[in-house]
Amino acid sequence: MVRLAVNGGEAVAKDLGRLIPKWPIFDEDDVEAVVEAVRGGRWCRLYPGSYAERFEVEFARYHDAKYGIAVANGTVSLELILKTLGIGLNLGDEVIVPAYTFIATASAVTEVGAIPVFADVDPSTGNIDPKDAEAKITDRTRAIIAVHFGGYPADMDALTSIARRHGLYLIEDAAHAHGSEWRGRKVGAIGDMGSFSFQESKSLTAGEGGMVLTNSDELAERARLIHNIGRVIGKPGYIHYILSSNYRLSEIQAALLLSRLRKLPNEVRVKHENGKLLADMIRRIGVVEPTRSDDRVTVRGYYYFVMLYKPEELDNIPKDVFIEALRAEGVPVGESYGPPLYRQPAFSRGNLIKAVPRHILERMPNYEELNLPGAEEFARRELVLPHQILLAPREALELVAAAIEKIKEHADELKPLVSKFKVSDITHRR
Ligand SMILES: Cc1ncc(COP(=O)(O)O)c(C=O)c1O
Repeated sequence: MVRLAVNGGEAVAKDLGRLIPKWPIFDEDDVEAVVEAVRGGRWCRLYPGSYAERFEVEFARYHDAKYGIAVANGTVSLELILKTLGIGLNLGDEVIVPAYTFIATASAVTEVGAIPVFADVDPSTGNIDPKDAEAKITDRTRAIIAVHFGGYPADMDALTSIARRHGLYLIEDAAHAHGSEWRGRKVGAIGDMGSFSFQESKSLTAGEGGMVLTNSDELAERARLIHNIGRVIGKPGYIHYILSSNYRLSEIQAALLLSRLRKLPNEVRVKHENGKLLADMIRRIGVVEPTRSDDRVTVRGYYYFVMLYKPEELDNIPKDVFIEALRAEGVPVGESYGPPLYRQPAFSRGNLIKAVPRHILERMPNYEELNLPGAEEFARRELVLPHQILLAPREALELVAAAIEKIKEHADELKPLVSKFKVSDITHRR
């Protein structure tokens, strides 16, 4: 008799682990590139013709941008962007950020002395809702940060038009979206400045790393100055023109990224196609649905394959129980970031006092009072698969679908498990 794996039956997708490439992937070219950088003896980028310089040029070219500035990670890349735009120099500067994202999108704002203002997200994508973003604009707003959640481009038409109308900077947090396209244009270079992460789980990685993209000569020059502790290339290294920090990427990471970048376009193509296949497969089954399709999204680079859980199609079994059941069948499913950011402990008054200067804290909203319906719904329903599943053969996608189908057919077996799994309060406001 067939039973769910969570109840001791055989896992239908037990071979999935073997089929999904072990992340991070690398080949002998990548190893050689790192060895060459190590042997070369120049491990810091402060030489002409550095790996970092070459990587910046290649990465910017692939993303249709004029300039790239390579940095240590995708958190400081956001901080560098905000500093370059002068955000945080005036007391009370506000930046509108989506309420559902990785915390760095918002913590970068507080790190430069500005105030994050949360806008709601579209519950069918997790991306910032342009209407709510516009409603949150005040005379202190300086910028909007759009995150391309999971690699699904935010509505860049609406956001560009809002930013233009209100005289705001539009910043793209493209940490999830290497290679994604909005109406044929790569994201990350559509707004004023874009930010990428090369942390280990990302589509392009050297363990850590980040990139700032821009098409503006002036902003690129200023970002370069700030990223290199106020030095100007071509002038003596002991003269510093502005007080700032060191954001530089190491040469060994840059060499690895340069090598990996050559494979990225093909990986993006494969993930885009497999993402469509998997979306079709799960749409037919029900229980979970893929993010909504939009013809303006011409390429999806994928960091997460996002699925939205529909408990009403599974006897109202809580999401946590569904996750346990799917994992037991062999599918590496999980949640991305848990609660909307305003419910993270870091945004409680008690913890803000320890992190934010008093004169800024006084001007901050009470985040604990927020309750944005789109972000709450997205938090309640979202499930994610890691992007490398989309680099696996079609058989792997079929196993994911088979596991969902099996759970759907045996939903009655899940009922007794509901009381066994504690549903976390912080993640799901009911
Ligand atoms: C949306 C988003 N922004 C920023 C970052 C920060 O990148 P890093 O981990 O390289 O600092 C991440 C990392 O996961 C992210 O997901």
